Amino acid sequence: MCNLNEVTHIDNVRLSEDGKKVIILNQTRLPNVTEYLTLGNAEELYDAIFELKVRGAPAIGICAGYGIYVLAQSINADTYDEFYKEFVKHKDYLNSSRPTAVNLSWALNRMEGIVTANKEKTIPDILKLLEEECRAIHEEDIKMCTAISEYGLTLIKDGDGILTHCNAGPLATSRYGTALGPLFLGKERGMNFKVFADETRPLLQGARLTSYELEKAGIDVTLICDNMAGIVMKNGWIKACFVGCDRIAANGDTANKIGTSGVAILAQYYGIPFYVLGPTSTIDLNCQTGRDIEIELRDPKEIKEKFYREPMALKEVKCYNPAFDITDYSLITAIVTEKGICYPPFQDSIRALFHK
Ligand code: MRU
Repeated sequence: MCNLNEVTHIDNVRLSEDGKKVIILNQTRLPNVTEYLTLGNAEELYDAIFELKVRGAPAIGICAGYGIYVLAQSINADTYDEFYKEFVKHKDYLNSSRPTAVNLSWALNRMEGIVTANKEKTIPDILKLLEEECRAIHEEDIKMCTAISEYGLTLIKDGDGILTHCNAGPLATSRYGTALGPLFLGKERGMNFKVFADETRPLLQGARLTSYELEKAGIDVTLICDNMAGIVMKNGWIKACFVGCDRIAANGDTANKIGTSGVAILAQYYGIPFYVLGPTSTIDLNCQTGRDIEIELRDPKEIKEKFYREPMALKEVKCYNPAFDITDYSLITAIVTEKGICYPPFQDSIRALFHK
C-alpha cells in the first residue's frame, strides 16, 4: 500500500480537543497494531517516554511540552510561588524519564522560561501562554523537519542507495522526519531511492518503524540486520548514510541510537559519506565533547527476553545495554540542520549556526 501523504502526516503526538490530555500513537505496538493512548497525569507521561511509547528526540520534546502544559493545568495554587514550585516538580520528574535526547530538557526549559518570564501575570494567563508555547514547539518542528529535508535532498541524487539506522522519520518527529526527510521529500518530487534499514537491536526501531514508514510511503526499502551493514556497503549499494541524533556536542560528537558509531566506522572504511540530520534544538553547546553526554542504560531484559518467545540467554548472564553511542566527529561528513549544512571543522561551523 502506498500512501505518502498519510505517512508524512502521521498524528504521533497532539493535545486532546479540550487541551487537558496528550494523545500519542503508541509506537511500541507498531507495525501490527495502531493504538492511541491518552495521557493525563505525570506517571502516564513519564511511562510513555520511558517505555518508548513516544520516542525519537524531537517527538519526546513535543510530548514533554504538551505534557507539562497538561500538568500545569492541574496545579492547585493561589500564588505564583506555589504554582512555580509545583511546576518545577513536574518538570524535573518528566525530565528524569530519559537522559540522552537533549530535546526533552530543551522543551521543558522553554516551557519553564514562559513561567518565569511572566511572574506578574495571573495563573490563567500563564497557562494560556504555556499552551501557545507548546503548540509553537510542535509547529516549529514541522518547519525544521521540512528545511532539514530540503538541505538533505541536495546531498543525494535520484536512484541512490541510502543506509539508515534506528528511526528518524515522521514517527520520531513531525511531518517528514530528519534522517528520512529527504527520502520522503524526494519521493514527493518523483525521485526513487533504495533504502537499507538496519533493524536496530535491541528495540528494533528500524524493523518496526522505519521499514513500516518507508514501505507505506511506497519507498523501496530493504530491511537488514545491524551486522549486515558492512556487506551492503562492500557490495557498492550504499551512496550515503543518513542518521538522526539525540544530542550533538559543540565539537560535532553525536549521540544517536546504539550501533550508529559502528555504521560510521564502516562508512569511513568504505569511503561512503556519513550524514547526521537533526534540528539545532539537538545541539547542546553545554557539552564540549561526546564525553559530556550521559548515555542511557536500559534493562538487560531488552536484550535477553524482549521479542523472544523464551529467554535467549541464561538468567545469570550479564548484559550491558546502552541505548545510545557516540559517533566521533571525525567520522561525520556533515551535520544537516534546519539552518544549513555544517561541515568540519564542526567546532566553527556549529558555532556559526547560532550566530546566523
Ligand atoms: O531510543 P529512541 O528510539 O528514542 O532513539 C531514537 C534515535 O536514536 C533517533 O535516531 C533520534 O532520536 C533522532 S529522531 C529524529
